[in-house]
Amino acid sequence: MGLPEDFRWGVATAAYQVEGAVHEDGRGPSTWDVFAHTPGKVRDGHTGDVACDHYHRWPEDVGLMRDLGVNSYRFSIAWPRVQPTGSGAANPEGLDFYDRLVDALLAAGIDPAVTLYHWDLPQPLEDAGGWMNRDTAYRFAEFAYRAADRLADRVGTWITLNEPVVVTAYGYAFGVYAPGRTLMLDALPTAHHQLLGHGLAVTALRSRGARHVGLTNHYSPAWPADPASEADQRAALAFDTFMNRMFTDPVLTGAYPDVAALGGPDLAPHIHDLDMSVIASPIDFLGVNYYNPTRLRAPSDGGPLPFDMVDITEYPVTGMGWPIVPEAFLSLLRDLDERYGTRLPPLYITENGCSFPDEVAADGTVDDTDRIAFLDAHIKAMRTAIDGGVDIRGYYTWSLLDNFEWAEGYHPRFGLVHVDYETQKRTPKKSYGWYRDLIAASSK
Ligand code: NOJ
Repeated sequence: MGLPEDFRWGVATAAYQVEGAVHEDGRGPSTWDVFAHTPGKVRDGHTGDVACDHYHRWPEDVGLMRDLGVNSYRFSIAWPRVQPTGSGAANPEGLDFYDRLVDALLAAGIDPAVTLYHWDLPQPLEDAGGWMNRDTAYRFAEFAYRAADRLADRVGTWITLNEPVVVTAYGYAFGVYAPGRTLMLDALPTAHHQLLGHGLAVTALRSRGARHVGLTNHYSPAWPADPASEADQRAALAFDTFMNRMFTDPVLTGAYPDVAALGGPDLAPHIHDLDMSVIASPIDFLGVNYYNPTRLRAPSDGGPLPFDMVDITEYPVTGMGWPIVPEAFLSLLRDLDERYGTRLPPLYITENGCSFPDEVAADGTVDDTDRIAFLDAHIKAMRTAIDGGVDIRGYYTWSLLDNFEWAEGYHPRFGLVHVDYETQKRTPKKSYGWYRDLIAASSK
């Protein structure tokens, strides 16, 4: 079977990871600015101050995408550019940047797919409690409204949240990402407030003409360390609930999975009348980010979480140390289809990719054969899922460019295009040519 007609082949980035220009055109500080500038939080003290300087070099980057032949580009809008303090009137200069970018993309035949929240919360909102504060959900819907008000005449596809589970877990529970809070399971209200923000934003976006609205979640198949051990199975189930279901069940079914089994605080007092129906507002697609499966075992005594993670050692790994398991991607896609059945909207793979320590050789080329093998195997797995009846409408590689990989700074290189951070020179890697050929061949 072939791919669906109008299949989207794309690349993805996010504002704080590529833009730089953090003080320009009225942009306010975000939680990531503050976090990255806090000593010890990001490897080698790297920050997103300059990043890939995409804020100035976007015409070159759009040219790279045009030559690559992608028909869609997933990028995020920095909330602190649009509302420097997180609320109130829009800052027109902040929106101007995205206006220009969108027009250039359309002129190049590339459909923009906009993520609204890729982790850069305006710092004043964090000072008021961030996602622990219900009010942030309403502020988010206001931001969505203002962005769509300016852009929805040209931007069809809108992704409200990117990987809210990572914000809850890494940002508020473990403190390894901004805002660096260490609330452990007491962070769970941030899950509900993000989901509420998503639901409110869906309505706000549609009211300004957005046609194609969804959210993107991170998924990781949960493997019990010892499949015969009931305790390990319980640990895997708890991880599955947290990672794969907590941000999907409410949206698609209107109810949380058994969150109480995680052992955190009771969410009930945070769930107001009508919240669940707002969260379950119909969406047009579900964005799937997949990188690797996770192996779990029963927690050691007194551990704060209902699972411990164990390294997966029998597969090759990427530069992040993540196991390369394309068959887990296939099983994830099948499981989503099976779990949600007719409630599952069409899927877009909004991220899939890998980092390797890519270097520019003396002859000016970047030989990233390992990335080609990774992408090839994962795209084949996706095609097998499609052939088996899973409704998948697009695939976006993470990422167009090497960029700021959060707490790992600029060390990991995820791009199809190498970035020299000293000179900002872009060098397409071998995988760029490979992806270009794949897109060209599949659109014939
Ligand atoms: C998912 C995140 O959305 C993205 O920002 C990050 O760079 C990639 N994973 C790789 O870790």
